[in-house]
Amino acid sequence: MAQIIGGVATSHVPAIGGAMAKGLQQDPYWKPFFDGFGKARKWLAEAPPDAVVVFYNDHGLNFFLDKMPTFAVGAAAQYPNADEGWGLPVCRPYRGDQALSWHIIEQLVADEFDVTTCQEMLVDHAFTIPMQLLWPDSEPPPAIPIAINTVQHPLPSPARCLRLGRSVGRALAGWPGAQRVLVLATGGLSHQLDGQRAGFINKAFDMAFLDQLVAGPEAICRHSIRDIVEQAGTQGVELLMWLAMRGALRGPVRRAHQNYHIPISNTAACLLVLEPERAVATA
Ligand code: DHB
Ligand code: FE
Repeated sequence: MAQIIGGVATSHVPAIGGAMAKGLQQDPYWKPFFDGFGKARKWLAEAPPDAVVVFYNDHGLNFFLDKMPTFAVGAAAQYPNADEGWGLPVCRPYRGDQALSWHIIEQLVADEFDVTTCQEMLVDHAFTIPMQLLWPDSEPPPAIPIAINTVQHPLPSPARCLRLGRSVGRALAGWPGAQRVLVLATGGLSHQLDGQRAGFINKAFDMAFLDQLVAGPEAICRHSIRDIVEQAGTQGVELLMWLAMRGALRGPVRRAHQNYHIPISNTAACLLVLEPERAVATA
């Protein structure tokens, strides 16, 4: 049984990558955002994970509108990054854990999730920026990327994403190894990048979402995707990744750390660290 050490969720605004590349962490605009990561890094350094499951959304680098899987799971030995057009430095490939990937895929398919399996997968800013934020000076652990479509409607419902996460949690509970696993979610919180409401942020919604995510994520599942677009903005649907992460943690959790900062670019930026309240027994 793998040990789930906890969950981290963070926004993945591309400009964060630019700020890191330029060393602007102490700049007044960026400091309140980057300062939030000190505690998360300390938490990770005290008990480093052996693997990281990353729920993220691809923005058109690996999948485009011509072929858009709802759920795609990486099963590669490594995950290269490529230039998406944001002008960010291209990172070197991230390591994968193929055995754990296939184990998770087996559980997901057994639980009737018809996932796309990716033995080659490019990872975009939604994957690379959170990895750089959490491990700025060291090699991150091997990753299992799980991409959730938030680009081409129809999108999976909040309830389905929570169940997806629970299935991943079951897979980890049934894993014969004893690896320590971190579950990472990227995206959100409220933001809208284009259209008449460009720049839309909804702090009241975000605060309620965070409380519900911790205390009872089922409450969020009452929302349709249309509700979330209305309440959190067109790109606020990225909170689906946070729900999947919460599902993977399965039992009760406690909020170990939270840093909410408005705005970073057009986004209500948030970092959340969740710890399992107690160890969850087997599948
Ligand atoms: C921004 C936010 C995102 O989530 C993204 O993928 C791209 C840009 C932004 O606020 O600039
Ligand atoms: Fe995004």
